[in-house]
Parts: sequence; C-alpha cells; structure tokens
Amino acid sequence: MLTRSRRIWDVIDHRVTDEHLVLNRRRLLAGLGLGSALAVLPGRPRAAEELTAPELYPGSRNPAYVLDRPLTDETIATTYNNFYEFGSSKNIVDAAQALTIRPWLVTIDGMVETPQELDLEAIVRRLPIEERLYRHRCVEAWSMDVPWSGFPLKALLDLARPLGSAQYVRFETFLNPDEAPEQLQSWYPWPYVEGLTVAEAANELAFIATGMYGKPLKKQNGAPIRLVTPWKYGFKSIKSIRRITLTDQRPVSYWEELGPSEYGFWANVNPDVPHPRWSQAYERPLGDFSSVPTRLFNGYAEQVAGLYAELEGEELYK
Ligand code: MTE
Repeated sequence: MLTRSRRIWDVIDHRVTDEHLVLNRRRLLAGLGLGSALAVLPGRPRAAEELTAPELYPGSRNPAYVLDRPLTDETIATTYNNFYEFGSSKNIVDAAQALTIRPWLVTIDGMVETPQELDLEAIVRRLPIEERLYRHRCVEAWSMDVPWSGFPLKALLDLARPLGSAQYVRFETFLNPDEAPEQLQSWYPWPYVEGLTVAEAANELAFIATGMYGKPLKKQNGAPIRLVTPWKYGFKSIKSIRRITLTDQRPVSYWEELGPSEYGFWANVNPDVPHPRWSQAYERPLGDFSSVPTRLFNGYAEQVAGLYAELEGEELYK
C-alpha cells in the first residue's frame, strides 16, 4: 500500500501543477463515471536484469537537438508521472514496477510490405541509439526537459516497409490487467491508443525513446519503448508500446475517446488556444517555481509547421 508520508511527488504536485488542473482532469473522469475505484497493488520491484542492453546508453548526443533551458532533475522526471494503467495520480512509481519488460515484443503490421514481430533487444541492437534533448509539454500545463535516448520513429517503421497507401500510424500500449490493475476498469477505453499521420511519423522530430538520462527507460516513464513527439501535448507520447499499425483509418486515441470535446487527434501545442477549462499560455517546468510562456508547437515550429499548412478547418491545437 502506498504510504501517505511526504514524498517527493507530494511536494512536486503542489509546486508545479495547479491543484485545480489536476482536479479538473480528474473531474472529466469523474463526470464520465471513471473515478479511481481500485486500490493500487503493492509495488513489486523487479531485478535489474530486466534492463535491456544498458551498455548502449546514452548513445551519441545529436547536436541538432539541444535546449535553451536546464534539464529537469532526473529524480523529478522519474517520479512525477502520468501512466493511467497504474493509477490516475502522479504517484505510480511503485505500481509500475509490476510491469514485465523483458522479453518485450513489438508488432509492426497493417499496411506494410513485411509485417514484423521484433524483440526490443533486437531492435536496440539493430538501430543506432542517439541522445536528444527535448522539451515535453503536458496538456495539464506542466513541462519538463529531458535527455531521451532512442532512434527516429521512421527508422523503426522502415523495418516493415510501409505501403504508399498507408496514411496513419496507430500505436497501442500493452493490455495486461494482471500487471496493470487499473485496466480492470472496463469503462476506460483500454488499451491506451495514439496516432500520427504518416507525414508526422516521418518528421525528423518524431522519436522512439528506449532510454532517458543515459539509461534504459524506467517503467514509470514507459519502458521499454515509448513515443516522443515534443511538438504535441504529452498525451500523444504513448508509453510501453506493443503494436504499431499502418492504416488508412484515422486512429481514435484514448483521450479523444474519453473526452472528445477536450482532446483531439492533432494536439499540437499552442499557447493561444486554451483547453476548454484552462489556459495553455504558460507552463510550470517541473522542479521550478516559475511560470514560463508556452511556445507554438512547443518551440519546434521550424521543424513541423509545414506539416499543417494545408489543413485549415482541422482542430490542430486540441
Ligand atoms: N502512455 C500510456 N500508455 N498511458 C498513459 O497514461 N500518459 C501520457 C503519456 N503517455 C500516458 C501515456 C501523458 S498524459 C503524459 S503527459 C506523458 O505520457 C507523461 O510521461 P512521463 O510520465 O514520462 O512524464
């Protein structure tokens, strides 16, 4: 059972995320009848041998992706998490340790020439690991600055040779209520799903992370393999991916299905378009008392604005 002693995330919660935002997102769930009903099972710490190829990290730093503000403290970035499979609080570290991450198979299927079922270890030994420093902006108006290790999403997709007819990439997280008991709450649309267009997926910024802070990913951060799309709100960065499907149907994401009036397909960061229940103009960097202005596309307009030039009429910023 989780103790109620003062732990780091209790402090961080109050420092970085306005109480009303956290409550507001929970209110969406409550309004849908989705309050957290299950107690979190005790954490089951797993042995270090579950880590896959730690010697490959951090990989060489890619100088094209650096930051103009300090990195978030590692302890904070790895203890203040959103991972609803393990609970709707930020305090899911213990519960997430129940996830078995080795072996870990990733399926790439759908509109591809050569469907793949790849072991994570084979993937990280095949694709060169690099390190990139990225901003991360959560829709709840907190942010972090993280050194991710991994490879471009395009490099992974290319292993399966996507067909020209594919228009979207659909990502799916594991489904295993034995290890993630929140998935027993059948009114949530499990498994967690996200999607990108093929053009977004091929953009240089779209990244698959298998590591963070020079080590393999921790379970609470989406081990052993997650998406990182820094120009979009953080909920697009789906964790612990099991299946990637190339398709001509636009995927409906987990949050879009739960609250379509609040969360959309595109979810590009834009300070001028408020969430229906709060402003997106400012953000609170984790571990910092300040409030800083949020930037269009989270500061990555140069790399991605062109993707949306022809898309007037779409709700690009929700
Ligand atoms: N992926 C899954 N499978 N389940 C989740 O609940 N939460 C998302 C995203 N990916 C989530 C997920 C949200 S809302 C955010 S802000 C980021 O993960 C948080 O990543 P972090 O915990 O590493 O900071």
